[in-house]
Amino acid sequence: MTRRVALITGASGGVGSALARAFAADGWTLALHCGAREARARRLAAELRRAGGKAEVFRADFRDLRRAQALVERVTSKLGRLDLLVNNAASMADYRDFLELSPAAWEEAFRVNVTAVFLLSREAFKAMKRRGGGRIINISSIAAKYGGSPKSLHHGASKAAVEAITAGLARFGAPHKILVNAIRLGVIDTDIHRRLKRDMKSRVRLIPLKRMGRPEEVARMAVFLAGPGGSFITGQVLPVTGGE
Ligand SMILES: NC(=O)c1ccc[n+]([C@@H]2O[C@H](COP(=O)([O-])OP(=O)(O)OC[C@H]3O[C@@H](n4cnc5c(N)ncnc54)[C@H](OP(=O)(O)O)[C@@H]3O)[C@@H](O)[C@H]2O)c1
Repeated sequence: MTRRVALITGASGGVGSALARAFAADGWTLALHCGAREARARRLAAELRRAGGKAEVFRADFRDLRRAQALVERVTSKLGRLDLLVNNAASMADYRDFLELSPAAWEEAFRVNVTAVFLLSREAFKAMKRRGGGRIINISSIAAKYGGSPKSLHHGASKAAVEAITAGLARFGAPHKILVNAIRLGVIDTDIHRRLKRDMKSRVRLIPLKRMGRPEEVARMAVFLAGPGGSFITGQVLPVTGGE
């Protein structure tokens, strides 16, 4: 059987590496994108290859939009095709109170989390249209529903835009068998919360299931959406939020 090819952005991160492991276990060939942490992505690729998988690493800082736009072409040149794009990379730079947030910080969040997602999706869309179909999964956030915390207003707004892109692309993609969905993540246990020094105890109390989600729980939803179970699902925002 021909191996399907998935590009996972932000595969060097907590959710991204769980996505990569789950898709590798499901038999996909992987293009693992990373930003600054290339060594982590390379270690992950080596781990997946040792287990019999096929994975290549592609580095691109999405603050440079030309690098975002060129990524799909780099992947299809190297791996021959693209069946799935998972837009998972996102910047949480300048996690600070909105009263002190600068236009530059706001714009950086939108450049990486929205404009790069648009450009990647646009290029993937062209490649998928040529091949007669494909899937795009956008990683959104519960912040799109609440508007984020006072320190993540820019992040929440950017993820709301990602959900709107999902709705639009799903409509435009349907005639071409390109299915586009988003997964809205609740609080997921990755390094990001420690890096941002967030008080997770009080945040977890707000979650009906009273715990953080695990990256693997997000990955299982993504594998479902990308596989036969997702064949009649498009334009949806699927929550993996513990009830929020
Ligand atoms: N964890 C949560 O509670 C939570 C909740 C809601 C939504 N999410 C969403 O889940 C996704 C993954 O988050 P995570 O928790 O796994 O965070 P993470 O571990 O910090 O991963 C973020 C990923 O995005 C990449 N990235 C950041 N800035 C980039 C840039 N300028 N150019 C290219 N890549 C860049 C990082 O690459 P490098 O590290 O290589 O630079 C990393 O691979 C994000 O979309 C996030 O918004 C997470």
